[in-house]
Amino acid sequence: MRPAQFIALFLFAATMSLASCARPARLSHRAASPTGAGAVACAEAAATDAGLEILRSGGSAADAAVAVALALAVVHPQAGNLGGGGFAVVKNGGAVTTLDFRETAPRAATHDMFLDPDGKVIPEASLVGGLAAGVPGSPAGLFELHHRHGFLPWRAIVQPAIRLARDGFTVSQRLHDAVEWETDLLTRFPETAAVWLPEGKPPEPGTVMRLPELAATLAAYAERGPEAIMSGSAVASASRDHGGVLTTADLSDYRPVWREPLRFRAFGWEVASMRLPSSGGFILAQSLGMLEHLGWDRLPREGVDRLHLLAEVWRRAYSDRFLLGDPARMPTDVSRLLGLEWIAARAAGIDRARATPSAQVHPWSGSEAGEAAATVHLSVADGAGEMVALTSTLNGWFGCGVYVKGAGFLLNNEMDDFVVSPGRPNLFGLVQGEANSVAPEARMLSSMSPTIAWRGSESIALGSRGGSRIPTSTMQVLLDLIVDGDSLRAAVDRPRIHHQWLPDQITAERGALDDTTRAALEMRGHTIREDEEIGEVNVVRRLSGGELEAAADARGPGAAGLTNQ
Ligand code: DON
Repeated sequence: MRPAQFIALFLFAATMSLASCARPARLSHRAASPTGAGAVACAEAAATDAGLEILRSGGSAADAAVAVALALAVVHPQAGNLGGGGFAVVKNGGAVTTLDFRETAPRAATHDMFLDPDGKVIPEASLVGGLAAGVPGSPAGLFELHHRHGFLPWRAIVQPAIRLARDGFTVSQRLHDAVEWETDLLTRFPETAAVWLPEGKPPEPGTVMRLPELAATLAAYAERGPEAIMSGSAVASASRDHGGVLTTADLSDYRPVWREPLRFRAFGWEVASMRLPSSGGFILAQSLGMLEHLGWDRLPREGVDRLHLLAEVWRRAYSDRFLLGDPARMPTDVSRLLGLEWIAARAAGIDRARATPSAQVHPWSGSEAGEAAATVHLSVADGAGEMVALTSTLNGWFGCGVYVKGAGFLLNNEMDDFVVSPGRPNLFGLVQGEANSVAPEARMLSSMSPTIAWRGSESIALGSRGGSRIPTSTMQVLLDLIVDGDSLRAAVDRPRIHHQWLPDQITAERGALDDTTRAALEMRGHTIREDEEIGEVNVVRRLSGGELEAAADARGPGAAGLTNQ
């Protein structure tokens, strides 16, 4: 049913302290006023333009990031969203913080809600229709990001998205292809099909599309903030009409959460990424820690040795991911999983000449705890030193397929990121543990990895789409930049590989492995599967002299730009 690409150190501070809940008094976190300069990289040119427009008008990186995310909700509806959720990392001078606007399970959610009375998984229930949707986090999350880090008035930030929805935007080839691919899903919901399959066909590339209902919702959002979306009955009705259990109380009670970033050092750089409920920062911290321990940077760049170690460290990090879930419900002390002792022990278990079968790699037992393109990543820098890395998602293309009548957007199918049934792989093949089981108001475990790394005055903001492959895609581009000194373009273009413990295989993009390297990996015991694309990384960088650079991944139709271009 889903597109092919779907199918799939040293710890500096790892306090698990949660966060201040959202809605602090307005605080100025700015080190300096925006200067009109800046850089944006994201998945669609019209959204990049929205961000550049905000930067040129004196907006901060956070202002521009929110404008880009809202523009993506219009021009990239298969993934950009008001009906989904995400995470953002913000760096301003020395201060780094992260915002969790992940969806939550409805209050009526239960551990076995996706099982029939015989304990069998109800086909598609966690992916299609109302039951698949978590409480959307984007409306409150994007507003909160602006509330704390914005510079321009809120209304100004929403304007580019309103214009795109009201006056129209040009349908991209990718949007056409996504609608065509998901025609079966979209036609199951008449309201969805009426918008996205006008006259029963996907909108033609190059034609202009207008979304008046979404324009009206955005206009109300510009006036009244998230209440305009979260306090009405439209979302709850859409959910109920299609078998869901979201209530108006679920929606009005939703709060994003500011969390301490997961901070660590890797190869001489400081890195800040997302902590739980995303596993993204965890996988980066643990696997970069193992690589550093193993002297990965001293191995030849080309050839089998580095690739073998990448697969081996990811195999181990993804196996520990099995223990993770919403931090509010976790019995496991994650900081021990990121401690030097465990990282060194894990690294010591790696055979440099032989793949360890995943069946022999188990999650840490020291605790009592037992690619469709439906995600978008955007990176923004302003001229005053602020950077934002923001990843948001509906999970699958067009989420659960349910269109919120009158509001103009689609609901996510993020409930599939929970463990629907023990041992059952999710949409991305991830096998997860009880810590990530469904529970009322819980946040489902994510792999999204918005990340900012810096050394001295040089800094990089990056992240990816790609489900379970998000951390590995992000990490490969980061390594190319900080270890091998690649240009942004070269780092983003370089073919990637991926391993996630289960299934026990290396997935490789075409061109990632020449025949000799492939044969050498197979000799070491790796199984290799080819895939067309792994991830879609969008990155901005501030060089030590202050110059800005941006690159969008050519695997998608994304665009990068600087305000002085
Ligand atoms: O949060 C997660 O890890 C997934 N829901 C992300 C889904 C995704 O990246 C889909 N597409 N590229």
